[in-house]
Amino acid sequence: MKIALVSVPAGELDVDALAVPVATGQRLSGPAVELDRAMGGVLAEMVATAEFRGRIHEVLPVPAQGKIGPRRVILYGLGSLHDLDGQRMRSAHHELVRASRTYGYKRIAVLRTDAVRMDALKAVVEGCVMGTFERRSRQTGPQPERREIDELMLVGFGSGREHELVAARENGEATNRAREWQNAPPNELTPEALAQEAMRIAQRHNLEVEVLGPAELKTGGYNLLIGVASGSAKPPRLIRLRHRGSPSPLSGEGGSVRAADAAGRGAGSPSGAAASSAGGPVLALVGKGITFDSGGISLKDPDRMADMKADMSGAAAVLAAIDVIASRKIPLDVMAVVAACENMPGPAAQRPGDVVVSADGKTVEIVNTDAEGRLVLADALTHALRNGATHILDLATLTGAATVAIGHAATAAVSNDDSFWATVDMASREAGDRVWRLPMYADYRILLRSQIADLRNSQYGEAGCILGGMFIGEFAGGKPWAHLDIAASSWNTNTELTTVLRGPSGAGTRICIELAELMAGAER
Ligand code: BES
Ligand code: MN
Ligand code: ZN
Repeated sequence: MKIALVSVPAGELDVDALAVPVATGQRLSGPAVELDRAMGGVLAEMVATAEFRGRIHEVLPVPAQGKIGPRRVILYGLGSLHDLDGQRMRSAHHELVRASRTYGYKRIAVLRTDAVRMDALKAVVEGCVMGTFERRSRQTGPQPERREIDELMLVGFGSGREHELVAARENGEATNRAREWQNAPPNELTPEALAQEAMRIAQRHNLEVEVLGPAELKTGGYNLLIGVASGSAKPPRLIRLRHRGSPSPLSGEGGSVRAADAAGRGAGSPSGAAASSAGGPVLALVGKGITFDSGGISLKDPDRMADMKADMSGAAAVLAAIDVIASRKIPLDVMAVVAACENMPGPAAQRPGDVVVSADGKTVEIVNTDAEGRLVLADALTHALRNGATHILDLATLTGAATVAIGHAATAAVSNDDSFWATVDMASREAGDRVWRLPMYADYRILLRSQIADLRNSQYGEAGCILGGMFIGEFAGGKPWAHLDIAASSWNTNTELTTVLRGPSGAGTRICIELAELMAGAER
């Protein structure tokens, strides 16, 4: 899809559809009024009669019958302006593009009216690009015709903003890449395959990459990850990519490949500390990469178990993000760490009651093998710290309790640092990808205690989303850390919650990119 800013009057465009945004309770404004006049008042009539209300995700094509250049006008809803945040803005444009594709339009233009602020360009482009997402079909036989938009024109957003446009497109495409990974069947996207995806990203940008397999994990003491993986025939992978972007004489010399290959052979022992060469911040983006979560011995119910192929959504987000961070050469040291494995029952699987020594030495009683995310992330955080992380953001489909707490409309979060959190929160606004911070009261800490070990991984009975996060926070080494529980936000399964897009969302991808941008900006 070609995207361009155009300054031609909308009525003169040669397009299949000219999209005009309308908010509920608002009249047509600005250039839409002229357009309506040229069309004989039919648009204003649709709005006045409430045949078109401007509700979010509402889309109505109106044939222009040759009265203007565009073949038709397509009214699309933004919902109430009061409710219109970055996420709904993207969602509205996502639906606009989806509908346009369904109708078979090839060339469309989006007209900016007063309902859309000038600075919404990023949201509009990201939303439209995300609307081009098409899950890759594995069906055999004749494929249905893929309906794609060839050209998207943006009218009324000014000119000379091509760099913003390019960045927004990259962000949208990265989100879609994460969504594609989320969708991938678990027998395809195995821990090994995830490592290969990481290697591809590393090769593309000449990044440093390290993939630890079972032998290296044992040497490094990553027993929590090993424990979760032990029921599976597929060996675990601890994946680390490093973008050395800090502005220093040592940076920019290109990366090195630490692991011989993605199979985890030939990697050295966990490398020593490698803080930013300039002594600046090193942001670690840590993703939960459970390629399938059966629950292990604490086996899940069969209904909806198939959804657990997306238990690597955190990994998808951090990998998609570092791809952009590296290609855009953001001047900040950023690493992506992915703890990849399967959580399966089997003769070698870990048991409820096991006590495991984590990589940083804390003992953990495994009470429920289905609370595996916090286990693999604990070791992943240790790995990030060993490699010089100064700030940590982890992303994980960690708890069903996140859905109970705030549902699919936002990511639930906790953090140990107000200042770092403020930056993450700002990144979330920039990204139009909602986060909501939950409290970490000291009172909850007692619920993490075990009778036999330093920590237990489950059976808290309440505040499940917070406690899952707090468990991980125990391994943050006191560094500024935030945890995004994307269990609900990464995949909307609620068929009634229709203003939040259904299926895989790529939640967190753009937050990671914006966070790197913001932290780099603060360093400049
Ligand atoms: N991957 C699940 C959480 C999840 C549930 C993600 C639904 C997406 C949709 C996680 O590993 C899990 O099983 N969590 C348990 C934790 C409990 C045993 C403390 C849960 O939420 O039930
Ligand atoms: Mn689980
Ligand atoms: Zn899980």
